[in-house]
Amino acid sequence: MTLTGPVPIEPPRGKLGVLLPGLGAVATTFIAGVYAIRRGISKPIGSLTQMGTIRLGKRTEKRVPMIKDFVELTALDDLVFGGWDIFADNVYLAARKAGVLSKDLIDEVRSDIEQINPWKAVFDQEYIKKLDGNNVKQAPTKYDLAQMLMEDIRNFKEAHTLDRMVMVWCASTEVFMEPDAVHQNLPAFVQGMKDNHPAVAPSMIYAYAAIASGVPFANGAPNLTVDIPALIELAREKSVPIAGKDFKTGQTLMKTILAPGLKARLLGLNGWFSTNILGNRDGEVLDDPESFRTKEESKLSALEHILQPHMYPDLYGDFTHKVRINYYPPRGDNKESWDNLDIFGWLGYPMQIKIDFLCRDSILAAPIVLDLALFLDLAQRSGMRGIQEWLSFYFKSPLCAPELYPEHDLFIQLMKLKNTLRYLKGEDLITHLGLEYYD
Ligand SMILES: NC(=O)c1ccc[n+]([C@@H]2O[C@H](COP(=O)([O-])OP(=O)(O)OC[C@H]3O[C@@H](n4cnc5c(N)ncnc54)[C@H](O)[C@@H]3O)[C@@H](O)[C@H]2O)c1
Repeated sequence: MTLTGPVPIEPPRGKLGVLLPGLGAVATTFIAGVYAIRRGISKPIGSLTQMGTIRLGKRTEKRVPMIKDFVELTALDDLVFGGWDIFADNVYLAARKAGVLSKDLIDEVRSDIEQINPWKAVFDQEYIKKLDGNNVKQAPTKYDLAQMLMEDIRNFKEAHTLDRMVMVWCASTEVFMEPDAVHQNLPAFVQGMKDNHPAVAPSMIYAYAAIASGVPFANGAPNLTVDIPALIELAREKSVPIAGKDFKTGQTLMKTILAPGLKARLLGLNGWFSTNILGNRDGEVLDDPESFRTKEESKLSALEHILQPHMYPDLYGDFTHKVRINYYPPRGDNKESWDNLDIFGWLGYPMQIKIDFLCRDSILAAPIVLDLALFLDLAQRSGMRGIQEWLSFYFKSPLCAPELYPEHDLFIQLMKLKNTLRYLKGEDLITHLGLEYYD
C-alpha cells in the first residue's frame, strides 16, 4: 500500500447486512438502539461515526466536518440485522431479558426487532462451560458447520437483497486457548475443521465462514478467534478486513485514558488493583475460571504496553497489576468497578487514586459495535484487507502485525484512526507540530 491518498472508495450503495453471532446484552442493545435512533427517539451517544468530527488542514482553515460527512459511511437506515444464538428468543425477547434498556424504549421499537429470530448457532459447551442452549446446529464435522453458517449468510443476503455484509462477534467469551499447530496455516486449519480438532473453537468457525464468504469480521470478545495466522492469511487472500479483539469499555477504557496521562507526567506506579462486580450473563460466563483467564489476559496487557517498564525501570519496573471479576447477580448489566492506584511522585513520595465507576457495560459497547460495522465496511470498500490496526481504538487487545507491539494508548489510537480517514481522502495527516503558526 502506498501512503499517498486519496484512495478510491466504492460508494455505499444499497443495504449493509450486520451479522451478529450472539444476540445477548450487547447485540440487542445495539440493534434496538439503532432502531430508536432511526425513529428519532434517542441519540447515538458514544459513536464516533455518528457524532464525531475531524479537523482537516491547518487550525486557521476552520474545516471540521462530521466524520460521517467526510467519509462515505453507510446510513443507519440502510442497516439490516441478523444473527445466531443458542437461545431461540427473538431480539425483542432477548433485549427484555438482558434488562439493559427500559421496557418503554424496547416496546417503542418492538415491531422492528421482534422479527429478528436467531439462526441456529455453532456451539459446543467445551468452549463455554457455563452455558447450554438448544438452538444449535448439528453436523458431523466442524467443516460442515462452517458450510452451514455460509449458507445462513447467503440466505440472509438474498432474503434482504443486501449489497454488502459485515460480522461482529458479540457472543460469550470462550475458554482460554493457546495458539496450536492447526492454527498456523490455512490448509492445516481446514483439515483441523474436517478432523474436528479441539483447537478449532466455535468462534473460529464463524470467523472462517465470514472471511471465506468475503465478509469483514470483528471480534468483540477476547477469544483467539481470528487472531491466528490461518485466518489472517485467508483474510488477505480474500481481500477482507478483520479487527479485534475484546471491546474496550468500562474499566479498561478508564485504564487506557489514565495510564497515558500518568506516563506523560512521569509519575511512577507501584500497583494497580482492579475489581468488578457484574451480574449479567457475561458475568456468569466469566465466573468460569477458563473463560476468565481469556478475559484476564486481555485486561492485563494494556498497562504493560502503555507504561513500557523496560524503558522506564525507575517508574514502572516493578508494579503489581491485579484484575478481579466477581459475578454478582443483583447488579445485572449495571456493573461497578473499583480501581486503586498506588502511584508516586517527586522524590518517590506515594499517593493514591481511587476510581469507583458505576457503568453500564452494554451501553458502552453498543456504539462500538456500530462504529466497527460501519468502519469495516468502509475499509472493504476502500480495498483495505487483513488486520485493520487503525481500529485499535475500539479494542482491549488490538490485533497488529506479528513484528509489532499493539498500541493501547487511547489518544494515539484516535489519532491513528483519524489520520487513516484523512489518508483515505487524500487530506494532509495532522502531526500537531504547529510551529508554522509562529513563523
Ligand atoms: N459489554 C461490554 O462492555 C463488553 C466489553 C468487552 C467485551 N464484551 C464481550 O462481548 C460479548 C457479549 O457480551 P454480552 O454482555 O452481550 O454477553 P451476553 O451473555 O449477554 O450475550 C452473549 C450471547 O452469546 C450467545 N452465545 C454464546 N455462544 C454462542 C455461540 N457459539 N454462537 C452464538 N451465540 C452464542 C449467548 O447465548 C448469549 O446470548 C462477551 O464475550 C463479552 O465478554 C463485552
